[in-house]
Order: sequence, then structure tokens, then C-alpha cells
Amino acid sequence: KVIPIEMHKVKIVQQTNLPSAAQRLEAIREAGYNTFLLRTRDVFLDMLTDSGTNAMSDNQLGAMMVSDEAYAGSESFYKLADSVKEVLGFQYLLPAHQGRAAEHLLAKAFVKPGDVVPMNYHFTTTKAHVDLAGGKVLEIFKDGALETASSNPFKGNMDPDKLKAVIAQYGVEHIPYVRMEATTNLIGGQPFSMANLREIKAIASQHGIPLVFDGSLISENAYFIQQREPEFKDATIQQVITELMKNVDIFYMSGRKSAAARGGLIATNNKKLYEQILPWLPVYEGFSTYGGMSTKEVEAMAVGLREMTIQSIASSGADFIAYFVRRLEEEGVPVVTPPGGLACHIDAMRFLPNMPQAQYPAGALAAAVYIASGVRGMERGTVSMDRDEQGNDVPSDLELVRLAVPRRLYTMSHIEYAVDRVKWLYGLRNLIGGLQFVEEPPVLRFFFGRMAPI
Ligand code: F0G
Repeated sequence: KVIPIEMHKVKIVQQTNLPSAAQRLEAIREAGYNTFLLRTRDVFLDMLTDSGTNAMSDNQLGAMMVSDEAYAGSESFYKLADSVKEVLGFQYLLPAHQGRAAEHLLAKAFVKPGDVVPMNYHFTTTKAHVDLAGGKVLEIFKDGALETASSNPFKGNMDPDKLKAVIAQYGVEHIPYVRMEATTNLIGGQPFSMANLREIKAIASQHGIPLVFDGSLISENAYFIQQREPEFKDATIQQVITELMKNVDIFYMSGRKSAAARGGLIATNNKKLYEQILPWLPVYEGFSTYGGMSTKEVEAMAVGLREMTIQSIASSGADFIAYFVRRLEEEGVPVVTPPGGLACHIDAMRFLPNMPQAQYPAGALAAAVYIASGVRGMERGTVSMDRDEQGNDVPSDLELVRLAVPRRLYTMSHIEYAVDRVKWLYGLRNLIGGLQFVEEPPVLRFFFGRMAPI
């Protein structure tokens, strides 16, 4: 267990507050046992997500002060375009207000009813946009990807044989693109290897299918490649990113995660693909030089993209997460291994082995963690899956409680506090009961759904 060292110092702080156990119980009841519906005044450590919650650098904040307010032709846009060119190597840039907006534009431009989109794994918003366009997501991960206790360094790999079979079965004309998600979010922030990306790209290219790369967590995936794939042990993060991008036709990202900013973008060197997306940009997002972002966000992302290639920044979240995971493992708490990016993930099916998936173990555990600690995590299990067309629950492959570690936000003592409380709760796990829906939205129900104890 390596103790991570922070290569930054704190310049500005925000006061936080630890509500009493009675207040926490009241707050989670009012929130319908859904951590999304808690107010932050009732939260001690906000580990819901790393999205838009990473600490920004002094250089990012400085850049925001000099942003160029213009509807069209803003200089801020050209700074972002320069960063995209230098860091990612792409000539054409389409800004979007966040990652899911980029997904919407891609689905709008390329997915037709009846199409299938092969992926290493789905992300909630990605799947929603493919579904809404009339397409279907096919998850073609390798055997072992869903084993939560594992030593496989690259559980985010796509299975090349399954990709070949999908192409043979559906035909090239029904596959608008293949999507690879860096540091695959819903299976526990697990990376894919460079070797795998190269193999997948070769198969896709052979059939003229574009490869779409979701780079929301690109710097983490690059860091894991450097740490875990011998070919890259002496490479810089920038060199790994450059090599990754050689295999990519369309790149997109949420700017809220690796880039430690807000917003999102799509980038490519393929003029034809760019021109297929461009007309939709002002329809849904805004003019092509701001795409729904404030110019301050554009500036912050321009700096954040460059900073995410710095070794100590690329490693900052991942090293804290590794420490968090190893500490919980020491305490006997079932967690996803190897440690990934984004978060420490608790395996709710192993934590609550007697609770059926129909009672939402990950949802119940996320609520219990909050009651026990004031730490707000996020359910990533069956609650995060919408019902099928017949109205049945779709049991999730995994039931995870995600305790996100936003980059450079919390300290070691915060992590130790969370470990201590989760360990305490594990000792009392027989007291945790299941949940049922009392209010359930039809799409992405995890955001606004309200539940109650069974
Ligand atoms: N792709 C991935 C891999 C993501 O993790 C996210 C967001 C998106 C796309 C959508 O981007 O939020 O900017 O619209 N993940 C956040 C999370 C919400 O909490 O994991 P967005």
C-alpha cells in the first residue's frame, strides 16, 4: 500500500460540516433514500462524483478571468482548439456543454433506427442517447470483466472475437461506430490496454467502421497504461495519449473529469465526419465557438487539458483511490480490484449477500453509508438501469456503491474517516434493509427516483 503524496498545496478552502446522525437520517428520508436528492449542507464528504467537483488549479482560475466573451469567434475557443491540437492531435473541434451533449450529437449524426453500437461497456447517458436514436448498445467486454475481486489490470478491454462476430451478424451498414470508453466507468473505473485498443481499431478499420473514443477519463487510462503495460513504462502521459489517439477517428469527452473543468467536446481529424456533426451543433448546443459552454469554462478546459498530462496530476486521483481500496481491503470490506480511476467501488452484492437485486442492494448500501458517515456516494447498480419495454427491472451486472475521489479535493484524513465509517457499517451489515421505488421516472430513473424501505 503506497501512501500518495500531494504535489500541490491548498490555497483556498471551503468550510464543510458534519451533520449529526439524527440529521442524516432525516435528510436521507427527505431525499427518498436517493443520494442525488441530498442537499450538500447535509453532506460531509461529497463522493457522489468527480464530475465538476475536482479542485481547479490557480492557472485554470487565472485563465477564467481573461476569457473573451463573444458569441462568435471568441479567442477562448482558439485557445481550447490549440490545446486539443497539441494534447490530442486533432484539427477539428466541436465544443459541447458537457459529455452527454457530445453523445447526443454523435447519436443524432450517426445512429439510425435498427443500428447497433458495440462498446467495451455502456455509460448511462451514452446508452440513453443511442436508445433515443433508435439504436441498441452491445457490450462486448472480455470474460472476467465483471469479476469484482480480480487482478486483471485491463478489465476495460473489448473482446476482439466478439467484435468480429457482431460485425458478421449485423453487417457494417448497421454499425455506425465502435465506442471505447477510457477507464470504463460502470465496471469500476477499469482501463483498457493500448494493445487492446490497437487490435479493436484494426478490426474496425478493416471494415471501414469509425472508432469513437470516450475520453472523459483519458488521463487516468493513460496513467494505468504507463503503470501496467510494460511497453509504456518509460513513456510520459503525453506520449501515451499521443499513441492512444493514433487509433481514434472521433474523440469526445466530458470536460468535467480528467480535464478538471466543465463542459465537453468532440474532436477529429476526419473532415467528413466533422461536417456530419457540425450542422447539429448550433441546433442543440450553441454556436461552434462556444457550444453551450461559458467562455470561462472554455478557458478552464484549455488549461485543464494540458495539465492532465502532468504526471503528478494524472496520478493524483488514481493514487488516492488505490490507497482507499487497499485500506478497505485490509479491513475486509469487499471492494472492486484492481483499484481503478474515478472512485473506490464497494461491491454491494458481497457486502449484502442475502439481499436480492430486486431490493436494490447498491441503493440500500449507498443510503446506509450516508447515514453511517455523512459521506455521499452513488448507486451504480439496478437503480441505474431503466426498466425494459415490458416494464421489468433489468438487473445490473454489478451492484456497486461508488465513493468518488475528486482530484485533489480531499485529504488522507478524509479517506481514513470514510474507511473507518464503512468498516463500522460492515460490522453492522445485517441491519441494512432493502428499498423499493415510490416515485419512478421513465428514463435515467436514478437521478430523480424516490425510494422507501421495504
Ligand atoms: N462518459 C463517461 C465515461 C462519463 O463518466 C460521463 C459522466 C459522461 C460520458 C457524460 O458526461 O456528465 O459531462 O454529461 N460521468 C459522470 C459521473 C456524470 O458521475 O460518472 P457529462
